[in-house]
Amino acid sequence: MSELYIQRADWKKEKHMPVIEAPDQVSAGIPFQVKVSIGKEIPHPNTTEHHIAWFDLYFHPEGEKFPLQVGHFTLTGHGESVKGPNQGPLYTHPELAVTLKVNKPGTFHALSFCNIHGLWESERAVSVLMTASAPDREAA
Ligand SMILES: [Fe+2]
Repeated sequence: MSELYIQRADWKKEKHMPVIEAPDQVSAGIPFQVKVSIGKEIPHPNTTEHHIAWFDLYFHPEGEKFPLQVGHFTLTGHGESVKGPNQGPLYTHPELAVTLKVNKPGTFHALSFCNIHGLWESERAVSVLMTASAPDREAA
Protein backbone atom coordinates (compact mmCIF):
# COMPACT_ATOMS: atom_id res chain seq x y z
CA MET A 1 0.00 0.00 0.00
CA SER A 2 1.28 3.39 -0.89
CA GLU A 3 2.47 5.86 1.72
CA LEU A 4 -0.17 8.15 0.22
CA TYR A 5 -2.76 6.25 2.22
CA ILE A 6 -0.87 5.98 5.49
CA GLN A 7 -1.00 9.12 7.59
CA ARG A 8 1.44 10.42 10.19
CA ALA A 9 1.16 13.29 12.64
CA ASP A 10 2.21 14.44 16.08
CA TRP A 11 0.49 12.06 18.50
CA LYS A 12 0.07 14.90 21.00
CA LYS A 13 -2.16 16.70 18.49
CA GLU A 14 -3.70 13.81 16.53
CA LYS A 15 -6.05 11.30 18.15
CA HIS A 16 -5.49 8.60 15.52
CA MET A 17 -1.74 8.23 15.97
CA PRO A 18 -0.55 5.03 17.62
CA VAL A 19 1.90 5.63 20.45
CA ILE A 20 4.59 3.02 21.03
CA GLU A 21 6.06 2.87 24.52
CA ALA A 22 9.18 0.72 24.88
CA PRO A 23 12.55 0.94 26.57
CA ASP A 24 15.18 2.86 24.59
CA GLN A 25 17.58 -0.02 25.14
CA VAL A 26 17.00 -3.67 26.00
CA SER A 27 19.25 -6.67 26.61
CA ALA A 28 19.39 -9.32 23.91
CA GLY A 29 17.19 -12.30 24.68
CA ILE A 30 15.61 -10.73 27.79
CA PRO A 31 11.81 -10.23 27.67
CA PHE A 32 10.54 -6.66 27.78
CA GLN A 33 7.20 -4.97 27.35
CA VAL A 34 5.99 -2.84 24.45
CA LYS A 35 2.75 -0.92 24.82
CA VAL A 36 0.72 0.45 21.92
CA SER A 37 -2.14 2.88 22.47
CA ILE A 38 -4.19 5.10 20.20
CA GLY A 39 -5.52 8.43 21.46
CA LYS A 40 -3.10 8.71 24.36
CA GLU A 41 -3.25 12.52 24.53
CA ILE A 42 -6.57 13.15 22.76
CA PRO A 43 -8.99 10.23 23.15
CA HIS A 44 -10.39 8.86 19.91
CA PRO A 45 -14.18 8.33 19.80
CA ASN A 46 -15.24 4.80 20.65
CA THR A 47 -18.75 4.37 19.33
CA THR A 48 -20.50 1.85 17.12
CA GLU A 49 -20.23 4.32 14.24
CA HIS A 50 -16.68 5.59 14.78
CA HIS A 51 -13.87 3.64 16.42
CA ILE A 52 -10.38 2.17 16.14
CA ALA A 53 -11.06 -1.19 14.53
CA TRP A 54 -7.56 -2.72 14.73
CA PHE A 55 -3.88 -2.09 15.09
CA ASP A 56 -0.71 -3.96 14.17
CA LEU A 57 2.75 -3.93 15.69
CA TYR A 58 5.81 -4.79 13.57
CA PHE A 59 9.52 -5.07 14.34
CA HIS A 60 11.96 -4.21 11.58
CA PRO A 61 15.39 -5.60 12.51
CA GLU A 62 18.23 -3.26 11.62
CA GLY A 63 19.86 -4.14 8.30
CA GLU A 64 17.15 -6.58 7.20
CA LYS A 65 14.87 -6.08 4.23
CA PHE A 66 11.51 -7.02 5.73
CA PRO A 67 9.69 -6.21 8.97
CA LEU A 68 8.31 -8.97 11.20
CA GLN A 69 4.78 -8.86 12.60
CA VAL A 70 4.60 -8.88 16.41
CA GLY A 71 0.82 -9.07 16.42
CA HIS A 72 -2.51 -7.99 14.97
CA PHE A 73 -5.07 -6.79 17.48
CA THR A 74 -8.71 -6.57 16.41
CA LEU A 75 -11.04 -4.51 18.59
CA THR A 76 -14.60 -5.70 18.11
CA GLY A 77 -16.63 -4.27 20.99
CA HIS A 78 -17.91 -0.73 20.35
CA GLY A 79 -21.27 -0.54 22.09
CA GLU A 80 -23.13 -2.79 19.70
CA SER A 81 -26.38 -4.22 21.05
CA VAL A 82 -29.74 -5.65 19.98
CA LYS A 83 -31.13 -2.48 21.58
CA GLY A 84 -29.28 -0.42 18.99
CA PRO A 85 -25.94 1.29 18.39
CA ASN A 86 -24.06 2.44 21.48
CA GLN A 87 -26.48 0.64 23.78
CA GLY A 88 -24.24 -2.33 24.52
CA PRO A 89 -22.20 -2.97 27.63
CA LEU A 90 -18.79 -3.51 25.95
CA TYR A 91 -16.32 -0.95 24.62
CA THR A 92 -12.82 -2.21 23.78
CA HIS A 93 -10.12 0.38 24.45
CA PRO A 94 -7.34 0.77 21.83
CA GLU A 95 -4.43 -0.04 24.13
CA LEU A 96 -2.44 -3.21 24.60
CA ALA A 97 0.91 -4.31 26.00
CA VAL A 98 2.85 -7.30 24.69
CA THR A 99 5.96 -8.96 26.06
CA LEU A 100 8.67 -10.02 23.65
CA LYS A 101 12.41 -10.35 23.25
CA VAL A 102 14.76 -9.47 20.40
CA ASN A 103 18.37 -10.25 19.67
CA LYS A 104 19.24 -7.37 17.41
CA PRO A 105 18.40 -3.67 17.31
CA GLY A 106 15.57 -2.42 15.17
CA THR A 107 12.50 -0.26 14.89
CA PHE A 108 8.96 -0.93 15.99
CA HIS A 109 6.20 0.24 13.68
CA ALA A 110 2.57 0.51 14.75
CA LEU A 111 -0.27 0.80 12.26
CA SER A 112 -3.77 1.70 13.43
CA PHE A 113 -7.02 1.72 11.49
CA CYS A 114 -9.97 3.99 12.21
CA ASN A 115 -13.14 2.77 10.50
CA ILE A 116 -13.72 6.29 9.15
CA HIS A 117 -10.33 8.03 9.00
CA GLY A 118 -8.11 5.24 7.70
CA LEU A 119 -4.55 4.19 8.43
CA TRP A 120 -2.05 5.86 10.75
CA GLU A 121 1.54 4.86 11.43
CA SER A 122 4.21 5.60 14.02
CA GLU A 123 7.62 4.15 14.79
CA ARG A 124 10.08 3.81 17.65
CA ALA A 125 13.65 2.55 17.52
CA VAL A 126 15.10 0.25 20.15
CA SER A 127 18.77 -0.51 20.64
CA VAL A 128 19.92 -3.87 21.94
CA LEU A 129 22.66 -4.40 24.45
CA MET A 130 24.49 -7.61 23.57
CA THR A 131 25.71 -9.70 26.50
CA ALA A 132 27.90 -12.79 26.74
CA SER A 133 24.81 -14.93 27.36
CA ALA A 134 22.84 -13.47 24.45
CA PRO A 135 21.84 -15.86 21.69
CA ASP A 136 24.07 -15.82 18.64
CA ARG A 137 22.53 -13.46 16.11
CA GLU A 138 24.12 -15.25 13.23
CA ALA A 139 23.01 -18.78 14.26
CA ALA A 140 19.97 -20.54 12.85
FE1 LIG B 1 -11.43 8.38 13.53
